[in-house]
Amino acid sequence: MVGLKVFLLVFSLFSFAIISLAVDSIGANQSIKDGETIASADGDFELGFFSPGSSGNRYVGIWYKKISSGTVVWVANRNTPLSDTQGQLLFADQGNLVLVNSTNGIVWSTNSSSTTANPVAQLLDTGNLVVRDGSDDNLGNFLWQSFDYPTDTFLPGMKYGINLVTGLNRYLTSWKGIDDPSSGNYTNGLDPDGLPQFFLREDSELLFRTGHWNGLRFTGMPNLKPNPIYTFEFVFNDEEIYYEYELIDKSVVSRMVLGPDGALQRFTWVDRTQGWRLYLNAMMDNCDRYALCGAHGSCNINNSPACGCLKGFVPKYPNDWGAADWTHGCVRKVRFNCGEGEDFLEYSGIKLPDSRHAWYNRTMDLKECKKQCLENCSCTAFANLDIRDGGSGCILWFGDLIDMREFEENGEIIYIRMAASEIEASRLSKRKKNLKIIIVTVLSVGFAILGFCLILLVLRKKKKKLKMKGSIQHDPGEEKNKERGKEDLELPLFDFDTISKATDNFSQQNKLGQGGFGPVYKGILEKGQEIAVKRLSKKSSQGIDEFKNEVLCISKLQHRNLVKLLGCCIERQEIILIYEFMPNKSLDSFIFDQKQSILLDWPKRFQIINGISRGLLYLHQDSRLRIIHRDLKASNILLDYEMNPKISDFGLARSFGGDETEANTNRVVGTYGYMSPEYAIDGCFSIKSDVFSFGVLVLEIVSGRRNRGFSHPGHNLNLLGHAWRLYNEDRPLELLDEMVRSSCNTSQVLRSIHVGLLCVQQSPEDRPSMATAVLMLSSEISLPQPKKPGYFTERNFVEDDSLSSNLDVASTNSLSMNNCSTSIEVMYINS
Ligand SMILES: *[C@@H]1O[C@H](CO)[C@@H](O)[C@H](O)[C@H]1NC(C)=O
Ligand SMILES: *[C@@H]1O[C@H](CO)[C@@H](O)[C@H](O)[C@H]1NC(C)=O
Ligand SMILES: *[C@@H]1O[C@H](CO)[C@@H](O)[C@H](O)[C@H]1NC(C)=O
Ligand SMILES: *[C@@H]1O[C@H](CO)[C@@H](O)[C@H](O)[C@H]1NC(C)=O
Ligand SMILES: *[C@@H]1O[C@H](CO)[C@@H](O)[C@H](O)[C@H]1NC(C)=O
Ligand SMILES: *[C@@H]1O[C@H](CO)[C@@H](O)[C@H](O)[C@H]1NC(C)=O
Repeated sequence: MVGLKVFLLVFSLFSFAIISLAVDSIGANQSIKDGETIASADGDFELGFFSPGSSGNRYVGIWYKKISSGTVVWVANRNTPLSDTQGQLLFADQGNLVLVNSTNGIVWSTNSSSTTANPVAQLLDTGNLVVRDGSDDNLGNFLWQSFDYPTDTFLPGMKYGINLVTGLNRYLTSWKGIDDPSSGNYTNGLDPDGLPQFFLREDSELLFRTGHWNGLRFTGMPNLKPNPIYTFEFVFNDEEIYYEYELIDKSVVSRMVLGPDGALQRFTWVDRTQGWRLYLNAMMDNCDRYALCGAHGSCNINNSPACGCLKGFVPKYPNDWGAADWTHGCVRKVRFNCGEGEDFLEYSGIKLPDSRHAWYNRTMDLKECKKQCLENCSCTAFANLDIRDGGSGCILWFGDLIDMREFEENGEIIYIRMAASEIEASRLSKRKKNLKIIIVTVLSVGFAILGFCLILLVLRKKKKKLKMKGSIQHDPGEEKNKERGKEDLELPLFDFDTISKATDNFSQQNKLGQGGFGPVYKGILEKGQEIAVKRLSKKSSQGIDEFKNEVLCISKLQHRNLVKLLGCCIERQEIILIYEFMPNKSLDSFIFDQKQSILLDWPKRFQIINGISRGLLYLHQDSRLRIIHRDLKASNILLDYEMNPKISDFGLARSFGGDETEANTNRVVGTYGYMSPEYAIDGCFSIKSDVFSFGVLVLEIVSGRRNRGFSHPGHNLNLLGHAWRLYNEDRPLELLDEMVRSSCNTSQVLRSIHVGLLCVQQSPEDRPSMATAVLMLSSEISLPQPKKPGYFTERNFVEDDSLSSNLDVASTNSLSMNNCSTSIEVMYINS
């Protein structure tokens, strides 16, 4: 919360009249007094005196001239503020620019070693304040420049790193607080030891490591990709090592800043909203915390717990490890001793380990690299230095391998030295696996062909029937879908008799409920396995399309927070889906029920919120298909034996292509109370509509109240409006369900409410992506201020709980379905 305010600083620059000197430089006999400013030639930056926030201190700084909120990018005297407005910036005898106080005492100086009788200080268009010798014709010769002494902001054109000749290291130091530019506890800068890397530190403690440059990006920042906003470059030669970026379109304002809370983030300015918008977080999630899993541990954010040992390694202290204390990491099952038969195992998709003590050679190839490693008994691993063009160069690690994690994309390959016995074991298991794969492939191909033929048969029959009635339009995409079905259906087929027997002939006692497109039954297979059986109702208008969709989608999705599809059955014109059975039914039967809700204490609820967020993130981002759920609600969240949440019902999900995040739909499906405004009104759905539903769900879980049907004696707002109101009145905790008051963790509750409100904001572009939401929930990063939620007054928007039966109403309203506003700016959070 605090964090973002920094970027919206309204400082008291304007406490009295400002005189702009209308120049971009001052000469030897000139000065800048408090109240006067100079501006860069293009008018982008301004330099002068200011007081941040409520502080009464005066500082000399540089800020964006055109940005009304007054975002400061550089401060001269951050640790030596002036207490009055009598300060002056002028040149001292040696040609040094100095800041003097009312008694002419020097409080800050450029302290340059080079001197000149005719100095000129100029504020360049880049926001760089430079001092030059006025008689030097070479305008690029600087005696001093502010870009060499950054405060907390890394601007385009700045060389962010080390000059090896002079030893100058340019790094960021956070402000102490939002009103206090003095040096805070966080720094971010280049560490040239071994293979150079950037580190984020709190005092001397390491928080985050970018990893080394691999030719394309830093090994720990898979999100750093070519993008439409800026180009970037890493320069590494005998004289300099630095990172640099340039804006592609100079009218887009973008900066990287190290916040007072230690968040290293990139922001871009959005004119329309007059605000800074988070573009990229250097730390993506918990796995980015330095050495979270200890030596030889590897962090995978999709696992729970996230920490695991690399193959061939075991926890050093299993008890600690079991208790989620991973600091001591893992050790080898079998130590290597530089003997015969030793070799390397390959690990891929990895953030390569800390390279501070690594050795490297830019030209050596991988074969030579391996040989080098084998020759030195303390060498534990090797990898390519540069991943371009199939890889080149060599890195060798000695000793422990620290701070590794797994990435879904843009991970790298490392080869880790293993004892001969481990190599042998790995060879054996690989052989076995190969054999298994062959058998499984043969079997599943057989099944798939069989299944597909059956489906074709059923579909053809069904279509014929419908056509006769003349009630269905031929969808030209259908042929294509069928083609897709052919490749994708690799699901076990159950026969109808088995299912009928398992559910006691679909008896009423076994009926669990009525889903969007048919009843759901509990069943027990002969071997005792419990299953949930969803029977596509014959009169359902949603019918075949949704069925196909659901089968195709679900069968591909594997995540611990998604309900698993075990198989399907297509026989006798029956279309049936078989899921894993969830003994604890759905979330709504707990949180909205007086008696049951006590069973879900706060830690469980928080775990459920986190689980749903990860499941949804997987759907949106990580699964091969990229899915928008479109009907996320409490009754679609099922709970397993341990109350782990599993998202169900993908009947309405639409897969969308890799880079599309928004699509038009000519049919609005979903449930009021959970539907985002842009979806309900315009039929525009995007991943941000799911985020909205998620936000509603979070607020429902926290409050134990339904959004729809919510009532309050004091006002006419729905749950969202109520939460928003409490939040603004600074009493958000009153939203919390009475039942969990005793078990609650206040900061988690506040964070959940805050994230919930961010997710239900009116405008889709304001809502975080699920990746950001997951991060917000699981770490201490600062949160932006939420804006007004969508639909916070329309309590009685539509009476029916589910829209499923109202489809036609919605679609015949012809609510400009094909006229989606395309204003959703794609979040380049991945760029
Ligand atoms: C500054 O003022 C001094 C004395 O008034 C003069 O000698 C000198 O030439 C001036 N320098 C410049 C650059 O104007
Ligand atoms: C001005 O600065 C000098 C040197 O830092 C210091 O000794 C003096 O007390 C300051 N004067 C005021 C009025 O702050
Ligand atoms: C200038 O340099 C001197 C000596 O190197 C040092 O004591 C002083 O703190 C420096 N002043 C500033 C403002 O950096
Ligand atoms: C910074 O560190 C100092 C000493 O380590 C500590 O007293 C102070 O509270 C810290 N400040 C912040 C904002 O964390
Ligand atoms: C790097 O490797 C190349 C090729 O193997 C070799 O010629 C060169 O001497 C190596 N450089 C160093 C510093 O080891
Ligand atoms: C192995 O490499 C380390 C680190 O570079 C070095 O200190 C050591 O001398 C090497 N040992 C041998 C036997 O080459």
